[in-house]
Amino acid sequence: MQLNASRLAPVVLVCLAIVAIPLSLQAQSDAAKVFKANCTLCHSEDGSGNSPTGKALKAKDLRSDEVQGKADADLADVIAKGKGKMPAFGAKLSPDKVKDLVAYIRQLPKK
Ligand code: HEC
Repeated sequence: MQLNASRLAPVVLVCLAIVAIPLSLQAQSDAAKVFKANCTLCHSEDGSGNSPTGKALKAKDLRSDEVQGKADADLADVIAKGKGKMPAFGAKLSPDKVKDLVAYIRQLPKK
């Protein structure tokens, strides 16, 4: 039997999808865990900042136009280097983790 590339292509694509989908879900839930462990104290699980600490420190609503309107690089910068009462996480979280957090913030449900 001869292997035909055009017949093989869909099989390869399906295999890639099977591998890729759980990987992206994995990254997503990792970011959720990192967010929960490091950020919810001030920003709340929904990103609103309505926790007692968040209110006391005036943590921004991460879903607001003000925050969402900023570039990924700017948000990553604030997470890594801190800003005002927002602590710096650059020493604790790798640049990849910070990037995942920016993606996580981007997909927080709107109010
Ligand atoms: C100790 C409380 C605290 C923790 C913990 C905290 N933040 Fe913040 N965060 C703040 C405060 C306060 C601000 C508002 C800073 C300002 O504008 O002066 C802020 C602002 C931000 C902003 C908006 C920056 C901007 O330029 O508008 C982002 C994004 C952010 N935090 C992400 C995170 C992420 C991600 C984590 C977890 C890794 C986190 N924060 C943990 C208090 C906190």
